[in-house]
Amino acid sequence: MPAKIIDGKAIAEQIKSEISEATARLLKTHNIRPGLGFIIVGDDPASRTYVRMKGKACAAVGFHSITKELSANTSIEELLTWVDRFNQDDSIHGFLVQLPLPQPLDESRVIEAVSPEKDVDCFHPMNVGRLHLGTEAFAPCTPAGIIELLLRSGVEPAGKHAVILGRSSIVGRPLATLLSRKGRGGNATVTMCHSKTTDLQQYLKTADIVIAAMGKPEMITGEMLKPGCVVIDVGTNRIPAPSVMAGKESILVGDVHFASASQVARLITPVPGGVGPMTIAILLRNTLRAAERKAGVSL
Ligand SMILES: NC(=O)c1ccc[n+]([C@@H]2O[C@H](COP(=O)([O-])OP(=O)(O)OC[C@H]3O[C@@H](n4cnc5c(N)ncnc54)[C@H](OP(=O)(O)O)[C@@H]3O)[C@@H](O)[C@H]2O)c1
Repeated sequence: MPAKIIDGKAIAEQIKSEISEATARLLKTHNIRPGLGFIIVGDDPASRTYVRMKGKACAAVGFHSITKELSANTSIEELLTWVDRFNQDDSIHGFLVQLPLPQPLDESRVIEAVSPEKDVDCFHPMNVGRLHLGTEAFAPCTPAGIIELLLRSGVEPAGKHAVILGRSSIVGRPLATLLSRKGRGGNATVTMCHSKTTDLQQYLKTADIVIAAMGKPEMITGEMLKPGCVVIDVGTNRIPAPSVMAGKESILVGDVHFASASQVARLITPVPGGVGPMTIAILLRNTLRAAERKAGVSL
């Protein structure tokens, strides 16, 4: 039987509607409207699209948002001045500097300049450390979105073997922390694979949950998977459109070969419409939490 699709778009909408309700409550009881800020440097089209999408998502849940656009030749000093202004601005409860930054701007210097209380991306070293200690203020957006997808699809990771393909600091590593820690959404036995892992197959064959975050188009095929497993495809790869798709130059695919994997797995996320929408939903939820914290609302 083909796998059931995990509809990330629908689950993200559900979370956004919870956020809208909590936002209306916060406005009514404390006269506080959550605010999310964006600083974007240069004119990379993908970065601009992401920021525009996040701004629209803010408006849809009742947040206000501010975007500061800076030119590609902005100096690090000027960028840090804007980071500091956003740190000081009481109407902004969370903000992010859209990555990647143009050369030669030093990303880690910028990330470390963001106040940890407003670091809704959970990139600041203090928040990364807190995450590993289990005392975090914010959940890292994509990994926390994946845990929500699992739980809201009825998949409890406890006791399962979760194989994560990829060890990046924004997806693989924080996800391994969330899946392996004690508590709801955790308690899995985690294997983290990377480009130097020999024989991926031996891990995949015993994986109850597979999370692919490599950036390798359609690399994981059905025959590599354990029948009945759950597949979360984080990969977002643009490839040339097949010739049958007249009029399209390129298409978006994941790291998983959907057609074959969906014949073997029990549940699977599509690309697009799986993990992507969840990342923005968790960003909004983190901003709401920052605003609630500021208002002294117990969480
Ligand atoms: N949907 C979303 O919201 C969202 C969010 C973030 C990322 N993404 C997508 O997720 C993918 C990964 O993103 P990222 O930022 O984590 O990428 P990244 O920083 O490039 O990391 C890729 C990871 O995959 C590993 N890898 C590469 N080839 C492999 C192979 N053949 N076998 C096993 N592991 C392999 C790499 O190993 P090494 O460490 O050894 O190099 C690395 O750890 C990309 O397609 C990205 O666009 C989507």
